[in-house]
Amino acid sequence: MTATQVQADAIAIPVVAGRGLQEPVQQLDSTLGGMVSEIVSRNEHRGRLLEILPVHLSGQIPSRRLLLYGLGSLRDMDGQRMRYAHHEMIRAARTYGYGKVAVLKAEPVVEENLAAVVEGSVMGTWEQRSRQSGQRDRVELEELILLGFGLDREHDVVAAEQLGEATNRAREWQNLPGNVLTPEALAEEARRIARRHELEVEILGPEELRAGGYNLLLGVAAGSNVPPRLIRLHQKRGPEGGPTLAMVGKGITFDSGGISIKVAKNMHLMKADMAGAAAVLAAMEVIAARRIPLDVMAIVAATENMPGGSAQRPGDVITAASGKTVEIINTDAEGRLVLADALTHALRHGASHLIDLATLTGAATVALGHAATTAVSNNDAFWEMVAAASQRAGDRAWRLPIYADYRVLLQSKYADLRNSDYGEAGSICGGMFIQEFVEGKPWVHLDIAASSWNSNGDLTTIPRGPTGAGTRLLVHLAELLAHPNPA
Ligand code: BES
Ligand code: MN
Ligand code: ZN
Repeated sequence: MTATQVQADAIAIPVVAGRGLQEPVQQLDSTLGGMVSEIVSRNEHRGRLLEILPVHLSGQIPSRRLLLYGLGSLRDMDGQRMRYAHHEMIRAARTYGYGKVAVLKAEPVVEENLAAVVEGSVMGTWEQRSRQSGQRDRVELEELILLGFGLDREHDVVAAEQLGEATNRAREWQNLPGNVLTPEALAEEARRIARRHELEVEILGPEELRAGGYNLLLGVAAGSNVPPRLIRLHQKRGPEGGPTLAMVGKGITFDSGGISIKVAKNMHLMKADMAGAAAVLAAMEVIAARRIPLDVMAIVAATENMPGGSAQRPGDVITAASGKTVEIINTDAEGRLVLADALTHALRHGASHLIDLATLTGAATVALGHAATTAVSNNDAFWEMVAAASQRAGDRAWRLPIYADYRVLLQSKYADLRNSDYGEAGSICGGMFIQEFVEGKPWVHLDIAASSWNSNGDLTTIPRGPTGAGTRLLVHLAELLAHPNPA
């Protein structure tokens, strides 16, 4: 099938800034009497990232419209921008009422073009406003036709669809209000995944948590009337003696700050303080569906952080499941507390490699903004693997250093550690607090506080609202750990 034969509502045509017409477009262009090259040469479309231009046709080819869309300049291109270009192209197509879209392959602009095109396009089908009644602004995408991507790509297409849909599932969970997506609702999602893919599932409630000494998680939960859940999904498909990957997600279903209560402005966005949990669960579902030959755990520490009458107080000292004592300076630094116990839980169940995902600090926004996840790690080799997964996923992560000098900032007068008041390097120190609970195992901490939800309307080339950050990265990480030396 070629662009001149296909019968679609629109043929989407990639335009790279400063590059003239893409080679794969040239045959179509000559059939159309040079229409596309004229638009580009007259700068009616400059190929800027997210620049979109619908063009009417009058029967020269079976398709009804062209949809020119920009990829920006090649030097700025990466997997994340490539996905967002397609995300927005599909949203525009749906706005114009095109349900059947054919997309022409651009010259190689990123390593894995097809994955980026399909994942981005699937992500472009997600709607933040699905809970609004009344008229829909956009049609559904019915069919995406890939032109020029080569034959026998079925397997790659299905894999990319899976990752796009998993990302959207994570976004939808982030988007759900705190009164709906409670800790028990997260647990129910985990049970559903376990049933569908025959995984081991264990859900701990308050009594079991007390028995296991998970006092940091219980301390955060103390101010809320809804009970906490410590969720573990486990697939045992790896070789004897192989690694066990634990993916640990922060699942604060609403973060009011607790007694150290937050200001009202934007507090409603704290319904998404479970974005780490969302990524971990969505990724686990793909890992299980693909039957990746690896032992993998998804662990979620789920609770609200509320200022009820039995809430923990600043100044309280709590003994963690690991035995370390923690002085609570600020009840709003709750993510590191629940993660500490969740990591201990992972180690008790045999984790050899740990990755935690958490909307941990506002300081992550200060460090990198919404353009990327901030990371810290105690292990260069494991970090390299995570960095490779990030690259393949088009899911940016940037490592910050752990300098020994920061260690003193974590010290408490009364306990082994304090949970805040570090004064500087907030995203790093938050990670270093968590590091105190990994027992030296290879570990990466991903602070997705900024990357999982773009609330900055001025930052237009990063997806708005919930992004599902970390979801695709985790699936690629599991693949890499299962097949460290692909043939
Ligand atoms: N959930 C927040 C972090 C956050 C902020 C996520 C903005 C998404 C957007 C976290 O629990 C928190 O409150 N962190 C505090 C830590 C501080 C008290 C040490 C912060 O960053 O201000
Ligand atoms: Mn908080
Ligand atoms: Zn939080």
